[in-house]
Formats: sequence, structure tokens, C-alpha cells
Amino acid sequence: MKYQSQKLAQHFYTFAVVLFLVQVLVGVIAAAQFIWPDFFILNFNTIRTLHINALVVWLLVGLMGATYYVVPEESQSELWNLPLAKLQFWATVIATSAVIVGYIIQGLFPQANTLIFGTLALNEGREYIEAPRWADWLIAISVILFLIINFMTMFKSKKWTGIQGTLLAGLTFLALMYLPGMVYMKSMVKDQYWWWWVVHLWVEGAWEVIAGALLAFMLMKVTNAKREVLEKWMYLEVGLVLFTGILGTGHHYYWIGTPGYWLWIGGIFSSLEPIPLLMMVWDAFRTTREHRVVSNKLGLFYATAHAIFNFVGAGLWGVIHTLPQVNKWTHGTQLTTAHGHLAFYGAYVLLVMAMIYITLPLIRGAANFDTSRGYRSFWWLTISMVFIVLTITGAGMVQTYMERLMGLDYVAVKANYNLWFWIFRGIFGLGFLYGTWLFVLDFFKLGKEQAKA
Ligand code: HEM
Ligand code: HEM
Ligand SMILES: [Fe+2]
Repeated sequence: MKYQSQKLAQHFYTFAVVLFLVQVLVGVIAAAQFIWPDFFILNFNTIRTLHINALVVWLLVGLMGATYYVVPEESQSELWNLPLAKLQFWATVIATSAVIVGYIIQGLFPQANTLIFGTLALNEGREYIEAPRWADWLIAISVILFLIINFMTMFKSKKWTGIQGTLLAGLTFLALMYLPGMVYMKSMVKDQYWWWWVVHLWVEGAWEVIAGALLAFMLMKVTNAKREVLEKWMYLEVGLVLFTGILGTGHHYYWIGTPGYWLWIGGIFSSLEPIPLLMMVWDAFRTTREHRVVSNKLGLFYATAHAIFNFVGAGLWGVIHTLPQVNKWTHGTQLTTAHGHLAFYGAYVLLVMAMIYITLPLIRGAANFDTSRGYRSFWWLTISMVFIVLTITGAGMVQTYMERLMGLDYVAVKANYNLWFWIFRGIFGLGFLYGTWLFVLDFFKLGKEQAKA
């Protein structure tokens, strides 16, 4: 680590991994509630809100940490205004914790979610981004501060690299795409239309641009590959991500009341979305093959796994239900959930973990850290996730057939015919929880225990 301010990344990582553990813990509770609906004091709807909002927030916090590491390194200077950056960190922690407490209060006392100044006090009710309006503003301010600090760092050092330019472009796009989620529309069609801009244009637009930039950074960092080559591929990848992903939003507009041309646009463009993701896999393998000297094998391992599971979870598990002819039957079933899990895990959970394993040893001055727990955690997490995804893909197929083709009742299928799938999901969920625990433990111990000879 060359610059002291890069240490700030560690603050963000710490908050992120703690939230990761919370997310998975409540995920296991949600899975148990599929089998025993009365399990736990908080209902399924509250637990689900906590599970998916914690996911989104910890990934964002993790990406912020990663950015605070990358930008000084690429700009070759300390961060502009470290105290302000620290303030931004604590503001994020306080706002996020308040929102989480709000969800729990609402779960316990549903009437508490009353109107203040025409907006709901505790939960706005938009899946994934349920934070109330007052928190939206705090989040927006924190993100603007974050962007200003990073832009100023680049600006003052006058070192513009392709990697950090792309990273900050992706982050700006991300911040802008939060805004459409902050307007209420009387019409449900319009409300959903804008909500998908946030959800879809985040994960299939802005976040993939960030992933492309970070992949180039990670490969350069651990293999000493040439910047020019990596950046050339990065431009091609993010260009194609945007070309396919922006109009690919159409795959969410099939059945919400938008004009019929979205069936064509969504079907065609979203079918092309796996191509740039496959290029990222190729990029990782090509770089690994050409550069035999690897400074951080575990880091490269996670970065490559991220590229592979980004392609499998987002690309393959996405494309199987993206054509309107298929989606007509599978929409909103457990098949969607299966894709949601593998895509988020592969594309972003593994991305943040890879960034942590590549930058944290440098921050802690422990280049020769003990990697055994990091590998064990990977296998527990990945094998469990693959089986969670396979079981709920099975549940989704049964659900599609029995509910949509045979016309059986939703609850009958869920409670009877899919029960074994829920049991297996629960068991593999415990395996995933164990993997998460190993990772969090490793995070806190890394560089602080004696490396094995
Ligand atoms: C990393 C990138 C991606 C992530 C994190 C992701 C995540 C998700 C999530 C969480 C949902 C469920 C949304 C909801 O209804 O609440 C979803 C839906 C969907 N995704 Fe993705 N996705 C990604 C990429 C893709 C790609 C590349 C494709 C197509 C090739 C795709 C196709 C779809 C489709 C068609 C749906 C709608 C499913 C339905 O009708 O219920 N996704 N995605
Ligand atoms: C890092 C790992 C995980 C990620 C990225 C993740 C992601 C998600 C996402 C995106 C959703 C919303 C899906 C949708 O609406 O289609 C969801 C729901 C859910 N997750 Fe997870 N999750 C993870 C781990 C777990 C674990 C370990 C379990 C426990 C088995 C679990 C159980 C559930 C359940 C039961 C739901 C609700 C599904 C439904 O509404 O039908 N998740 N998760
Ligand atoms: Fe999408």
C-alpha cells in the first residue's frame, strides 16, 4: 500500500462483511419460514426486506471501500480530504443502521409506518430499495460526497487512467440511477417503469461497468499484466454491457402494461447480454495463462471465480428466461429467485470478496497471509450456492408446470409439491451460512495470525 488514505477502504469493508453476515443469517430464517411459516418473531415479509436490502447495501459499501483503495493508487496521490471521507463513512453507517432499525420496528408494529410530509416514515415499499424518503436524501448526499472526494483526488493529481475513469463513470451512472426510484407515480405502470431503471440499470448497467473496471485493476495488480491490453478489453466489455443492457431493461416491461414493442426490444437486446460477460471470463483466463508470476493466488482465484459465476448466474441463468415466449410462463417464479441468487453471488458478492482478498493483505502489510481459510470459505459458499440455485430452479420448474400449465392453486403447490425443495434449500443455506462465517472470521484475522511456514 503506497498511500495512507487507502486504509480507509478497511472501514468500509468491515461494515460490509458484518452486514453480509446479517444478510445470510436472515436469509436462512426466510428459508425456514417457507417450511414453518410461523418461525421467528418477525414475519417473512420483514425478513425478506432485511435480506435483500442488506444485500444491496453491503455490496454498495464494499464497492465504495474498493474505490477508496483504487483511486489513490491510480491517481498516485493521497485522497483529497480524508476527514470528509471519514465523515462520509460514518454518515453511511448511521443512515443504514437507522433504516434497518426502522424495518424491524415496522415488522413489530406495522402501524408505525405512518406518513410524514406525505412520505412513509419507515419503509417506502419498493423491493430492493425500500428505504424511506428521508433516508434516500441522506444516502444521496453521502454518495455525492463520495463522488466529489474521488473526482477531486483524480482532478488534483491530473493522472487520468482508463481504469479509474471507467470506475468513476460507472459510479456516477449508479448515483444517477438512484434518482428515478425517488419519485412517486400514481399509476402503477409508471411507478414500476421507473423502479426498474434503478434495479435493472444498476445490476445490468452501472454495476457491471464497475465490475469491468475492477476486474482490469485486479488482474493488473496480481499478475503484472500490461495496462494497455487490459484497458482495451475493458472498454470493449463495458461498451457491450451498455449496448445490450440499457435496452435489455425491456425484459422487465413485458407484462407491466407498457407498449408491445418492448417484447421485441427486451427479447433481442437482453439475449445479447451474456456476450460481454463471456468476454470477461476469457479476459481472466487469457491474462492468467500469459502471466505465470502471480503475487496473490487467492485473489486471482476469487477474481476468476467472479468472472465465471457472473457469466453463469447473470448470463446463463438470465438468458434461459429472458425471451418473452419463455418469460410468459416463468415470470415471478422460483426460477427468477434462482437466477437472482446466482447472479448477485457471482457478479457482486465474489467481486467484493475478490477486491477484499487483493487489497486487504496490502493494507495490513501481510502479503504472505495464510490463505487456507479463504479457500475453504470459497468452497463452502460456492458449493452451497450452486445447490441452493439447483433446488430452487427445480422448485421453479415444478411451480411453472403445476401452477401455470395445470392451473393448480399457488398455495397448494408451495405447501405440498415444493416442500422437499424448501427443505434442501434450508440445508444448503446452513452450509452457506457456515461459509460466510469462515469468511468473516478470516477477514478479521487476516494478517493478524502467524502465517504457516
Ligand atoms: C449481475 C447481473 C444480474 C443480476 C444481479 C440480476 C438479478 C436479478 C434479480 C434479483 C431479478 C429478480 C427481480 C425481481 O423480480 O424482484 C432478476 C430478474 C430477471 N433477470 Fe436478472 N440479473 C442480472 C443479469 C441478467 C441478465 C444478463 C439477464 C438476461 C440475459 C437477466 C434476465 C432476467 C430476467 C428475464 C428477469 C425477470 C424474471 C421474471 O420475469 O420474473 N438478468 N434479475
Ligand atoms: C450471498 C448470498 C445470497 C444472495 C446474493 C441472495 C440474494 C437474494 C435475492 C436477490 C433475493 C430476491 C429474489 C427474487 O425476488 O427473485 C433473495 C430472496 C431470498 N433468499 Fe437469498 N441470497 C443469498 C443467500 C441466501 C441464503 C443463504 C438463503 C437461505 C437458504 C437465502 C434465502 C432466500 C429466501 C428464502 C428468499 C425469498 C425468496 C422468495 O421470495 O421466494 N438467501 N435472496
Ligand atoms: Fe434485468
